[in-house]
Amino acid sequence: MSNGADKRKVLTIRDIIERKRTARKIVMVTAYDALFGRLVDEADVDIVLVGDSLGHVVQGRDSTLPVTLGDMIYHGRAVRRGVTNALLVIDMPFLTYQVSEEQALLNAGRVMQETGAQAVKLEGGDERIARAIGTLTGIGVPVMAHLGFTPQSVHALGGPRVQGRGDDAAERLLADARRVEEAGAFALVLELMPAAVARRVTESLTIPTIGIGAGVGCDGQVLVLPDLLGLNDRFRPRFLKPYANLAEDVRKAVGAFRDEVRAGTYPDDQHSF
Ligand code: KIV
Repeated sequence: MSNGADKRKVLTIRDIIERKRTARKIVMVTAYDALFGRLVDEADVDIVLVGDSLGHVVQGRDSTLPVTLGDMIYHGRAVRRGVTNALLVIDMPFLTYQVSEEQALLNAGRVMQETGAQAVKLEGGDERIARAIGTLTGIGVPVMAHLGFTPQSVHALGGPRVQGRGDDAAERLLADARRVEEAGAFALVLELMPAAVARRVTESLTIPTIGIGAGVGCDGQVLVLPDLLGLNDRFRPRFLKPYANLAEDVRKAVGAFRDEVRAGTYPDDQHSF
């Protein structure tokens, strides 16, 4: 069966930026391996993100902090083998870009060289992060920024809480957004904030925003793939809409296999040589 993938365009940074001008919403999902990379690419998403959320959904950790550069490169290379049309972006994990501009350059350079991704994503919007973004974009590494709830700061933020509530907090968020845009980011993830704040940020920038728990006023939306698929059935925050119930499907399918193996009815003649 043809999925039409070969007829689709290979998306570039320019195409993503252009989406804002033409008011065509950007669709981004995460992937962590080649198989799901291929499936989401065939589903015609615009951006595949190898998120450091893999710390939660692949490694079973309770934060993204322990995820290493090696982990991101390993999963990034796998996803790259599945993704042919969507733009591939890889998260820079905790403490691989905050120490110095040189550190950011060397580590982002490794990610680009060793995975074949088209861009990296950095969390935060203070002066230090803006300098890192400027350094990377200065040598031609496209950067997606990430503001609002930034999971690498989960402890400082007191957990996954809505950010930008209240006038001062909203102003700070807007200032950070302008700073990362000025530094050269080509897009900005807005995570967990009131819809009105995300809309205001979106309307104030020329680069596209991609929301998660940030309302419909963003230029696009992102979900973590196992959450979108209903595979991660112990995680149901308010913003999440699961579009399938694969956790139940997995339990049912494996249970059916278990029953047939125990009954001696699998494999039958049709599935034997
Ligand atoms: O790590 C991740 O998957 C992310 C998305 C939630 C945007 O940063």
